[in-house]
Amino acid sequence: MSLGKIIHKQDNELSKRIDKQKVPEHVAIIMDGNGRWAIKKGLPRSYGHKKGVKVLKEILKASKKLGCKVLTVYAFSTENWTRPTKEVDFLINLFTEVLRNEIDEIHKESTKIKFIGDLSPFPETLKKIISSSESQTKNNNKFLLNVCVNYGGRQEIVKVAKELALKSSSGEIKACEVNEELFNSELLTGGIKDPELLIRTSGEKRISNFLLWQLAYSEIYISDVLWPDFNEVEFLKAIIDYQSRNRRFGGIESLPNESFKDSQYSS
Ligand code: IPE
Ligand code: IPE
Ligand code: MG
Repeated sequence: MSLGKIIHKQDNELSKRIDKQKVPEHVAIIMDGNGRWAIKKGLPRSYGHKKGVKVLKEILKASKKLGCKVLTVYAFSTENWTRPTKEVDFLINLFTEVLRNEIDEIHKESTKIKFIGDLSPFPETLKKIISSSESQTKNNNKFLLNVCVNYGGRQEIVKVAKELALKSSSGEIKACEVNEELFNSELLTGGIKDPELLIRTSGEKRISNFLLWQLAYSEIYISDVLWPDFNEVEFLKAIIDYQSRNRRFGGIESLPNESFKDSQYSS
């Protein structure tokens, strides 16, 4: 059997195990491991980034097929500027080229694309294509793809704090009106539903300054697969794992009435 057929078979088998009623609406992904993937193959790191784009396209398709509504991916962090200039420049050019080539397809699929992060340090060419892509797709409502670039969770929180402080000092709001709801609405994610699931590839067990506020109660799934090797089958495994979780949000698992006895708590 060819590799393609094996993957297709695995994919069908996994799809059958998915509870369609419990598909996460919003999935966030830290797409990590591009460099290591390339190095392992004796290739320059840039090959890993290129292959990573193909994987993103596959996962975007898979998440739509499954019935997810929002995908938020980490493409470039505020800390990634510390990489060699050549790699940073390569990534900036790659984002520009991919966006230019893919935007019509994204639009045709009725997907809205949003870029989240501080775009100001990027070159004009990238800023322009980001702006035109966002306006071209702004009325699409089937699916939302958030791409985080020059994004840092701490920077986002500081930005909101500053904005609220300014609004308070200008009298637009009162300090006592600041609450979670208001804070949330000022975030770069614009108050959309928090991700139910965070996937990080490449086996790293950290958040790396991603969506610090929004991930407060997300389920975390770490895949050992490097991002360029990630695929629909691995994505479905993450969803199945997510569906087996017991999300308690600080409460307790619902138990039959008899299990709750006041006497347990009396001293
Ligand atoms: C993720 O892969 C892509 C970006 C951070 C832009 P890496 O480039 O971090 O790959 P590794 O972690 O070095 O293998
Ligand atoms: C996180 O990956 C950022 C992106 C995937 C864009 P990194 O490779 O930059 O994170 P660390 O350095 O391993 O924490
Ligand atoms: Mg990395």
